[in-house]
Amino acid sequence: MTQKSQNITRVEHRIEDTERHTKAGHRGGVIWLTGLSGSGKSTLAFTLEKHLFDQGYQVYVLDGDNIRHGLSGNLGFSEEDRRENIRRVGEVAGLFARAGVIAIAAFISPYHEERQLARGICQDNFVEVYLSASLEVCEGRDPKGLYKMARRGQIPDFTGIDAPYEKPEHADVVLDTGSRTVEDCTQELSNLINDRFRLPSVS
Ligand code: ADX
Repeated sequence: MTQKSQNITRVEHRIEDTERHTKAGHRGGVIWLTGLSGSGKSTLAFTLEKHLFDQGYQVYVLDGDNIRHGLSGNLGFSEEDRRENIRRVGEVAGLFARAGVIAIAAFISPYHEERQLARGICQDNFVEVYLSASLEVCEGRDPKGLYKMARRGQIPDFTGIDAPYEKPEHADVVLDTGSRTVEDCTQELSNLINDRFRLPSVS
């Protein structure tokens, strides 16, 4: 992205990141769920959000369909628009993480380059999770009937049909959501988050 703004100067916060972490009991971070439409991103994201919330985490889901009603409401599904969608969401997820929240981002995010940009914003506090359910499985499920419409030519640029999905090659976690249950996947991510983000409790 070319920086258009000029004459701008960063202003420092008066609260250290570590102060926020101590107050919350955990560090902030981004759990980035990527995969085809119908691979279970939203279901897993909202189940995990509730699970972590009940354990006392500050946690919030950024979900593709929701974000496209607001922040990305002016974007469609061309390659350029998807890249811009993920650029925006990567920045927003990074802000959540800086604020001490666990942001769960659930986006197809089909391009490797933008996923890497999102990772770069949070560095060590970014966990890329690939929901690897195959096209056959996702199309078989077709929870919103979108694959059927795409096959009929009613939705152009549909991921997996006539738009690409670049599979992650070095995801931190791969979940075969074609065969595993939501509960099982939630537990695996919850364990990982407890290990990586929770601060040791002082009692
Ligand atoms: S992304 O490619 O820019 O990451 P995003 O996750 O925000 O996509 O939005 C995907 C959701 O939009 C899908 O779950 C589906 O409900 C809907 N959708 C509508 N049109 C398309 C399309 N052409 N390709 C994929 N998903 C689409």
